[in-house]
Parts: sequence; structure tokens; C-alpha cells
Amino acid sequence: MRRTHDQLAADQNKPAPPVVTADLSEKTLILIGANAGLGFEAAKHFASMNPARLVLTARDEAKGKMALAQIQEDTGYTKAELWIIDLANFSSVIAFADKAERELDRLDILIENAGMMTYEYEEAEGWERTLHTNNLGPGLLAIRMIPKMVETARRYSAHPRVVVVASDTHYWTKIEKDVIGSAGILATLSNKEYCTQEVMYHRYHDTKLLNVLFARALQVHVRSSPAMITVCAVNPGLCVSGLLTRLPSDAEEAQAILKDRDEFAFTTEEGSRQLVYGAVGSLDDEEKIRGKYIQMSEVTEESDFAISEDGKIVEGKVWEEMLEIFGDIDPKVTEVAKVYLTKP
Ligand SMILES: NC(=O)c1ccc[n+]([C@@H]2O[C@H](COP(=O)([O-])OP(=O)(O)OC[C@H]3O[C@@H](n4cnc5c(N)ncnc54)[C@H](OP(=O)(O)O)[C@@H]3O)[C@@H](O)[C@H]2O)c1
Repeated sequence: MRRTHDQLAADQNKPAPPVVTADLSEKTLILIGANAGLGFEAAKHFASMNPARLVLTARDEAKGKMALAQIQEDTGYTKAELWIIDLANFSSVIAFADKAERELDRLDILIENAGMMTYEYEEAEGWERTLHTNNLGPGLLAIRMIPKMVETARRYSAHPRVVVVASDTHYWTKIEKDVIGSAGILATLSNKEYCTQEVMYHRYHDTKLLNVLFARALQVHVRSSPAMITVCAVNPGLCVSGLLTRLPSDAEEAQAILKDRDEFAFTTEEGSRQLVYGAVGSLDDEEKIRGKYIQMSEVTEESDFAISEDGKIVEGKVWEEMLEIFGDIDPKVTEVAKVYLTKP
């Protein structure tokens, strides 16, 4: 599907779909990036549904504690836990996954919400920082959490979910042919010489496209048990949050986004309803949302590029590259791949 600016504006000018609710009294949730923006508002929605365990994350402990106190004050829910994770640091992601493996009895819902947007090239552990934060860190975490989710499905006859927070910016980019044909798509996208200013202007969009493709790939590869785990990508819509505060005032693209924000952005509370929909919407029909992209609480066709032959090639290659990259830094990933993930 194509998505024009007018379609975006039309959706943004509609009332945000209402929040869905569910009985979470026996469920365990992990919500990544809960100290601010969409994650903070989604955390309050989930807290109001009284989950058995609600693991909220921040990368900064002080910010996390402040958010936790506010969530408790606003909802009366006292069981939320603060765990620390920095997605741009593989050791931090691995430590978090190890802790979840050890300390959680079950995992019903993982919401991969945290993310960043910048137009500046910066590295984190040798990777372009946006790619590391929005794709590599979340990818590693999701794969490491699969065994716990499969175990949850088996032991409790549950239908665990992974929710990847994507964006409609994924409609406005594609991965170029020379990148697709290169030895490594992720390595090329991360390469400093490749990341010219022009490339960095759509880098965030690229990472959100990779989010959509990752959700699809993970759904396809969860070994012979696709019925047990649901993976979906959600678009919260354009919302007023901290995400847009690092945009340079002299870039035309940034100015266009900021103008839209001022004209028709949702609040973070409104946008957070899409995170909640991904987690507990369509409970009577898991199949409907498996591997799908959701916006305005409806399954919506992904971008023309995402569903094109090239899109499918990128989906498959990036999946393989991720397994290799993650396997090199975390032997448990290789084990997960062997036991739980398979070729389609
Ligand atoms: N706002 C929008 O219009 C919009 C539209 C579509 C999609 N989205 C997506 O929604 C998600 C949330 O964005 P938001 O709008 O709520 O932005 P936000 O207000 O900037 O919140 C981003 C969250 O991600 C965390 N984060 C950033 N880098 C991190 C890292 N390296 N490790 C762990 N956590 C990190 C932030 O923590 P700190 O507070 O420590 O920075 C914060 O908790 C993102 O995936 C974004 O792409 C947003």
C-alpha cells in the first residue's frame, strides 16, 4: 500500500480509536521504554488492567523511578517493577534477557517500544546508533525471549505476543538495490561512508521499515508453533513526544514533520492505545494480526516496498544477518535458533 500525506492527515484528524482492555490478572508483561512518551502512557493503561507482573524499563534508573512513582500515583497499581535496559548496548540487552529467563515464571506480552530518531551519524558499539537502538537491540531481545514465551504458551495454554512499535514513516522509504546486493545489508546501512546526510535524513524511516519486516520474519520463523506466539507491528501515529526533540531546525524534512506535529499530532496517550491494541486487541482472532502491521486499530497493508520481491529479500537477508550477528555475541541465540526458530 501507498500512504500519502493526505491519508496521514485524514487519519490523524479522526478521533483516536478507543483503548481496548483485557483481563491481565494472570499475565506477565514486559514494556520496553516506559519512562517517557508512548511507553509511559501505555504502562498506565496496562497497570489499570492489574497484571500479575508488569516489568517496565528505562535506561536511566532515576528517570525510571520517577516514572514508576507517577504510574503508581495515577493508577493505584503498586506491583510495577523497574528493570534497566539500554538497547544500544548488547551486554545490557543480554543481561536483561538473562534476568528475564531466570526471574520470570512466564512471559505473555513483550512490547518493544523504545526507540530514537536522529539525523546525525553516531556510532554505538560500531553500529549506527539508530539502527542499534531501533533494530539490533530489540531484535536480540525478542529472539532471546522466545523460549520463555513458548514455555508460557505450553504450560499455561496462553497465546503470548510480541509487539514491535513501528511507524507509518516506513511507507516513505525503501532499501536501495545496491544495499540489498551488498555483502551485508545491516553492515552497509551502518557504514559511516554510506551514511551521508541524505541517508541519515531517512534513517529513522529505514529502521521503522526494518521493524515491520522483523515482525513478519519473527512470526514466520517461530518453529512449527506459529499458533502459539503472535507477533505484530503497530503504528501509534504521529504523536507529541520526546522523539522529535532532537531534529535539526535547518532540515526541510524535519520542518515538515514538526509542522505536521503542530497541526494534527495525537497525544502520547492516544497513540499509546495502539501499543495496547497490539498487546490485547483481537484476542478472539489471533490469526488476524499474526505477522501483520496495525494502525488505527486495524490490520493495514504494509508499504509497497515491504510487500515487494525486494522487500521479501531484505526481510530474509536481514533475519539471517541478525542471527549471525547475535549468535557471535550471545551463544544462547544460536541455541534458540536451533531449538525454536526454523526456516519457513
Ligand atoms: N512519537 C511519534 O510520533 C511516533 C510515531 C510512530 C512511532 N513512534 C515510535 O514509538 C516509540 C516510542 O517513541 P516515543 O514517541 O514515545 O518517543 P520518546 O518520548 O522519545 O520515548 C522513547 C523511549 O525510548 C527510550 N530509549 C531511547 N533510546 C533508548 C536506548 N538506547 N535503550 C533503551 N531505551 C531507549 C527512551 O528513554 P530515555 O528517556 O532515556 O531517552 C524513552 O523511554 C518509538 O519506537 C518510536 O519510533 C513514535
